[in-house]
Amino acid sequence: MSDIASFDHLIIGGGIIGLTIARELHRRGERSIAVVDQGIIGNEASWAAAGMLAPNIEAHRSVEFCRVCSDSLALYPGFISDLQAETDIAIDFNTNGILLVSFNEDPLPENSGKTLSRTEINHLEPRVSPNVRDGVLFPNEGQVDNRILLKALRRYAVINDIRLFENTQITELLVKDGRAQGAVGPTARFSAASTIVATGAWTSLITISGKPSPFEIKPVKGQMIALNSSIDLSHVIFSPRGYLVPRSAGKILVGATVENTGFDKRFTPDAARELHVAAAEMVPDLASAKIVDQWAGLRPHAPNGTPIIGPVPDVRDLYLATGHFRNGILLAPLTAAYIADDVQGKTPSSERHPFLPERTSHAKTVNI
Ligand code: GLY
Repeated sequence: MSDIASFDHLIIGGGIIGLTIARELHRRGERSIAVVDQGIIGNEASWAAAGMLAPNIEAHRSVEFCRVCSDSLALYPGFISDLQAETDIAIDFNTNGILLVSFNEDPLPENSGKTLSRTEINHLEPRVSPNVRDGVLFPNEGQVDNRILLKALRRYAVINDIRLFENTQITELLVKDGRAQGAVGPTARFSAASTIVATGAWTSLITISGKPSPFEIKPVKGQMIALNSSIDLSHVIFSPRGYLVPRSAGKILVGATVENTGFDKRFTPDAARELHVAAAEMVPDLASAKIVDQWAGLRPHAPNGTPIIGPVPDVRDLYLATGHFRNGILLAPLTAAYIADDVQGKTPSSERHPFLPERTSHAKTVNI
């Protein structure tokens, strides 16, 4: 094992959450920051995501959750324009709106917004299926190219001396006398004044001073395909069949499966077929589009499906930012602001209570 590396802030997990926290801490004047990843930085769920920014569609679990998702969406324009200026990387981002559509046999959920007539839908997206019965437009929602965003966050880290450790597995958080001291794995040992765990679907595998993690985060597999198509879609289209995310250069992403298959990330031919059929059900002309890419990722699912963000009870200087499930890309800027506030000693406001680590019953007292 190499020598102990010491930092003020140790961030475990180099996905969008960990990288955005690193950047936020740095922007607030913190220095001596390290991000440690068991694989390649930004190569897991954040890379596999579709980049939808959709509080009204993806975040309907509770009013509180929808509100934090909307608050994070409101941070996005500034987040992207600042990051572009900081890194000189142009990031594809738009809030052109997300069109939720329903088919004849399954009507729209109630209260999802103002229902559009068929004529209005045709006007917005002429290529959607004639079997679409009605729809709702969420005009301020949109999408970001998550892979370019990750590239920009990585560049921010590199040009600002945030240390990146790749292929460095962490197996244990070190806690002594009720205070986090850092973390250790088979090939490295870190000491840190504050330790932030942003390890997504792998969070529960890290012990705390040799004891099993009290945080139950489960992997939920999502498989996706990309179609090569010159069909012009102006909006993200979301339906009970799946979703379509139009990207630049004639690519349309189609997502996604939701599977409880543990840490299995294999892509299956059945999923490719199902997703292609779903795409054609939403936009019939996509039936002849070619599949040009396919992949899978593991969403981190916490009990009740909402994220866990904040200080760990009874362990000073240990923070959790995980369990973002379907909304990791959307929630990155707000999560980073929350964690930076915590690290800098601000007491979490009441709207954060449903998402604090103590909400999970096993974690009320970590008891180290
Ligand atoms: N947010 C899209 C998905 O999780 O499939």
